[in-house]
Amino acid sequence: MSCRTAILISGSGTNLQAFIDQVAAGDLDLDLCLVFSNRPDAFGLERAQKAGIPTACLRHGDFGDRESFDRAVAAIIDKHSPELIVLAGFMRILSPWFVSHYEGRILNIHPALLPKYPGLNTHQRALDAGDEWHGSTVHFVTEELDGGPRILAGRLRVDPHESADELQQRVQAIEHQIYPEAAGLVGSGKVRFENGLTLVDGKASDEPALRSFE
Ligand code: GRF
Repeated sequence: MSCRTAILISGSGTNLQAFIDQVAAGDLDLDLCLVFSNRPDAFGLERAQKAGIPTACLRHGDFGDRESFDRAVAAIIDKHSPELIVLAGFMRILSPWFVSHYEGRILNIHPALLPKYPGLNTHQRALDAGDEWHGSTVHFVTEELDGGPRILAGRLRVDPHESADELQQRVQAIEHQIYPEAAGLVGSGKVRFENGLTLVDGKASDEPALRSFE
């Protein structure tokens, strides 16, 4: 049985599209059971509808505080019984309640080689630091922002003459490969979260798997 997976978005949804395409091609064994957005105008909702995936949307501005929004979102998500929650450009900080409700079952992708550059403006920060390598990292979500145990990272060589926008586009192309791959590993049970660690085939692993791209 394919792992039932809900994808949470706020925007364009190019990562969502990569999941949709890989599932359609038979390269990714996940059952995409819901796409949720906190923004009604997120283009990713159209991508999901076109692919025949159920969608839902709640506006965070309609709720008084973070946890009441998160509880309403979870009530929708839970109707679809997903085993895995994939954050794909979901621009919300999650409440501790939400993180513990889905403990060990939420994935995020962050556009940096974590633990470098949690937070925003990661591409400019990598350029400003003169880094040789930059990339993106898939990790389990814990209460620590961009700090949960890592699963898979993809890296590329930085061209010191490129702009942050160009670098971002190259990193996004990597994300479209490593994010479905990492989610597939978790969905199949090969990789899992236990006691705050990533386990691969039952063994704790401190460093994420790393793919290098040209
Ligand atoms: C990705 O670049 C990811 O690193 C970050 O949000 C962006 C989402 O882009 N967490 P998209 O909506 O999938 O195009």
